[in-house]
Amino acid sequence: MNSVNPDNRIEREPYVVSGKGYTAVAINVAAKAGEWIKSRQGQVKQLGSKTSAQDLVTEVDKGVEQMIRRLILTHYPDHAILGEEGVEPGAEAAKAALAEGRQHEFLWIVDPIDGTTNFVHGFPFYCVSIALVVKGELAVGVIYDPVRDEMFVAEKGKGAYMHGIPTKVSAETEPGSSLIAMGFPPDRTFAQPMNMAGLQHILPQIRGIRAGGSAALHLAYVAAGRVDGYWEVGLSPWDCAAGVLLVLESGGKVTDTLGNPYDIGTRHLVASNGKIQDFLVNSLQAAEATGFTR
Ligand code: IPD
Ligand code: CA
Ligand code: CA
Repeated sequence: MNSVNPDNRIEREPYVVSGKGYTAVAINVAAKAGEWIKSRQGQVKQLGSKTSAQDLVTEVDKGVEQMIRRLILTHYPDHAILGEEGVEPGAEAAKAALAEGRQHEFLWIVDPIDGTTNFVHGFPFYCVSIALVVKGELAVGVIYDPVRDEMFVAEKGKGAYMHGIPTKVSAETEPGSSLIAMGFPPDRTFAQPMNMAGLQHILPQIRGIRAGGSAALHLAYVAAGRVDGYWEVGLSPWDCAAGVLLVLESGGKVTDTLGNPYDIGTRHLVASNGKIQDFLVNSLQAAEATGFTR
């Protein structure tokens, strides 16, 4: 049981979820990984880059992914795992790895640290993202923010929760009163101009924009009603799989930037409370910022 200490702060019990269900495993693994990541903040020893100088990776990303793989495979040795650090950098390699992953009945999609740039700079906005896809459909999504100790959990058809409390998207209907999140992938030739064009068009029409540097946490925040919508062109499956299920199970909507239903291969994503989805999709189309060429 959680208890309230004299400062009125809730002292949370460590996450030990009993049972052998997929969700319990995802929660336990995310909790362990998150604790480890948090303990290494400010102590990165090997800072490397992937596709560009902006595309960072550390020994913590790699080590945590190894740990997550080991733990998942201990429970489910015959399941497949698609983890960011196990794939060559770049969109084409991600596409090929996902095509291979789709062959498996049970596919775990893992981002060991979503928000590596933040992690490296000590900007406290990063998370662990773990999704389970069963026969091509999202079944479980877990996002753990170790800094705030927030565990977001979604199960297909069973709703979404943060520490046992159901998450719900916002009720906002007006773009002008909406707080919207978006992001910039490291790719500066294709994704950056697209996202800049979208930003230029959308920002003047809304209350405010947040580009916090973690796609997964932005999606969790849409699910929790903390922002009303989110879009980004140029994502990879591990950035958004868990977050998409959180948004859907919290009553929201997720499509690609053309308004087509989400699929685990979707790279250009719009997620919202549902009420401002058309506004976002239409705005990106008007700005020619969908990431799709005609
Ligand atoms: C990145 C973050 C960032 C988003 C990028 C992602 P990483 O993931 O989610 O917010 O804008 O598209 O690549 O590299 O920190 O795992
Ligand atoms: Ca990521
Ligand atoms: Ca990552």
